[in-house]
Formats: sequence, C-alpha cells, structure tokens
Amino acid sequence: MPGLTAPSDYAEEPPRHPALRINSKEPFNAEPHRSALVTSYITPVDFFYKRNHGPIPKVEDLSRYSVYISGLVNKPIQLSMADIWALPKYNVTATLQCAGNRRTAMSKVRKVRGVGWDISALGNATWGGAKLSDVLELVGIPKLSSVTSLGGKHVEFVSVDKCKEEKGGPYTASIPLKQATDPDADVLLAYEMNGEVLNRDHGYPLRVVVPGVIGARSVKWLDSINIIEEECQGFFTQKDYKMFPPTVDWDNINWSTRRPQMDFPVQSAICTLEDVDVIKEGKARIAGYALSGGGRGIERVDISVDGGKTWVEARRYQKDNVPYVSDGPQSDKWAWVLFEATLDIPANAEIVAKAVDSAANVQPEKVEDIWNLRGILNTSWHRIKIQSSSCIGRSKL
Ligand code: MTE
Repeated sequence: MPGLTAPSDYAEEPPRHPALRINSKEPFNAEPHRSALVTSYITPVDFFYKRNHGPIPKVEDLSRYSVYISGLVNKPIQLSMADIWALPKYNVTATLQCAGNRRTAMSKVRKVRGVGWDISALGNATWGGAKLSDVLELVGIPKLSSVTSLGGKHVEFVSVDKCKEEKGGPYTASIPLKQATDPDADVLLAYEMNGEVLNRDHGYPLRVVVPGVIGARSVKWLDSINIIEEECQGFFTQKDYKMFPPTVDWDNINWSTRRPQMDFPVQSAICTLEDVDVIKEGKARIAGYALSGGGRGIERVDISVDGGKTWVEARRYQKDNVPYVSDGPQSDKWAWVLFEATLDIPANAEIVAKAVDSAANVQPEKVEDIWNLRGILNTSWHRIKIQSSSCIGRSKL
C-alpha cells in the first residue's frame, strides 16, 4: 500500500465548513465571507480559502510516505516524515493568496477565464515545518547556492493529485534554487498549519509554503522534489499564472513571451462592507487587509469616502500589543496587515482603499488598466458604493 494516493473522482472529499462560499464544487474551490477575514489576524483553518485543481489526495499509510529528492544533485535521497520531523522546526506566519483573487470583479470589465473569486481567496496562517534550505543540504546543496555542481538552477515540486489541466497528471511548480537555499526566504516543507497537523485540503501530510509569492507555487501533497536546469515546464508554470497585457487575447496569446508570476504586488481590500452596501449616514468602522509580495511591508493604507478625491490614513495592525511598523523587526514580513478607520460616511459615499508598500509601490486605480485574459492579480483600488438610506426602503436598514 503506497503512502499517498490520488483519487480519480470526488467520492472521498474531506468535510468542509458550511459557511464557505463555494466557487466550484469539483474541484473544490471556496472562500470565506469577506467579513470573516478580518475577525482575526490568523485565519482559522476552517475559514482559510481552498484552491484545488483535482480530487484531494489521501494518505493510506503515513509510515510508507516519503519525498524523493533527485535531479541535478550528487546524492539523491528519500525522506520519510520521521526524517523531516527530525530537522529543526520553524514556525513562519505567512499569507497565502491565490493570484485569481478578485477575478470576478475583473471579469466585469471583459470576460476572463478561470474560477471566479470575490476578495477572500487568501488567508494568513502560521505554518510549521522544516526549512527547504536545510532539506537541500541533505542532498549536498549548500545554503545560498544559485547553481549546483551539476548545473541545477531551479527546484521543482511535484504532487500526486490528478489535474485536468495536466491531462490527469500531477500539479507541479518550481522556484529558483537561490530562493530555495536562502534560509531568510523562509521556504518551508510544512506539516503544520496554526499549530495543528495540516488537514487534507491544505496538503496533508506535507506541502511547500513559499512566502511572498502567489499561492500557485506552494505545492500541496508533496511527492518529490527535482533539481532542474530550467524552470518547471508544467502547465501551471508555463501555461497559466502569467500576467499578459490587455491587448493579448486567446487568439494571439504566446505563453512563452512572459515569465511565470512569482511575487505578488501591493494590494488591499475592504472586508466590512459589500461592494454595494447600505449603511446609515454617520460614523462607521471600515476594516480590511493589505499585503505586498517579496516580504515588503505595508507603509500606508489610505481610505477615501468620496471616491478618491480626499484621503485619510487608516490604522495598521498585525499582532495584539505590538505596534505595526512596516519592515520593522517585530513585524511578520510575509503576513498581511489589517487596517481600520472609523469615518464619517456621507450620503451616497464611495469608499475606496489604497495601500502603499515599503518600496513605495501603490495600487493601480482602475481594473481596466490591468485587465488580463487569465484574470490574475486584480490589485486595483477596492471601491464600495454606499446607497443612501433614503434611496431604499427603511426596512432594509
Ligand atoms: N498544490 C497542488 N498539489 N494542487 C493544487 O491544485 N493549488 C495551488 C497551490 N498548491 C494546488 C497546489 C494554488 S493555485 C493555490 S492558490 C494554493 O495551493 C492554495 O492553497 P490552499 O488550498 O491551502 O489555500
């Protein structure tokens, strides 16, 4: 009996919280309601978005599970869970985000292909596991290597799930060797999420967590690791999760002209209101999340109640009793930053959030300017239209 197996159908999916909004049932893709996101800094596992491309794999016998590490290395090895548990354990708080977050809003400009998501295809968790840089030392690759003696420059992660896009083959992704062997990049082979054993939906028994880059590179249900010369040639690296200009459509696309997306750009969204909402005139608390890729902090979150004519700065926070300082030593560099502001909301307000990261990158104003055919990285200003209470029946208030 092998350790980890991949079903071909959806008969044995794990149980899920009924409050999740299901965007696709098979494969299972779901997100929490936006208001649930800002109730805690660490997202409970049940409310963490779930992004899958096939049926969820199962562990038949954990004692027979192992990860095979080979390719352009001098000494390939097979690591059991016991071997991985024996390595130093690190806890890294990192936000995972699907590049398709806010795709539904982008599809309103012009049709895009892919699962529709509201603004909650992300979550912030504390991941526990071994550092990939320590694991790679076991196959003779020193820390901070850009190339192995046999010419390996990329680290490919291979899963076991059966994905339609791969014609029934497994999900794969790669990251540069330089990032994989850098202990400060905090790339983990994680076996815990929020202090509990990873559950099936999130990659049990072992997943990769690549902080600061789009969630697509954090491969779940890890089966093997290959050290390769070129980046991974799989569908999800070469034919998906790339950002094209608005002029490219399905008739003129040339996938090889663009690099696979890695870091995600600065973004923010308001979670306490729907995109069109009704609130009484007067004071209201506006709260949401902001994050940036590559470990960059959030320098500022600006809120407007008049569609972007005037702005006030929101309070930013992560952990209780620790003032948030962008790129400060006590801040979680890979994690989102929550924000809040209590503001006077005029009649027919248009509330807007706009974040600035520590490299002074600012969110683009209009989704039209960043439209792309795969509908990824909709990081435009998040706008909420408030209908004046006088425009609707009082019973709705
Ligand atoms: N790994 C495997 N094996 N199969 C997948 O479908 N989806 C990827 C990534 N890793 C995926 C995967 C994508 S696109 C995202 S955004 C994250 O997992 C989602 O992780 P989560 O479901 O734990 O939130």
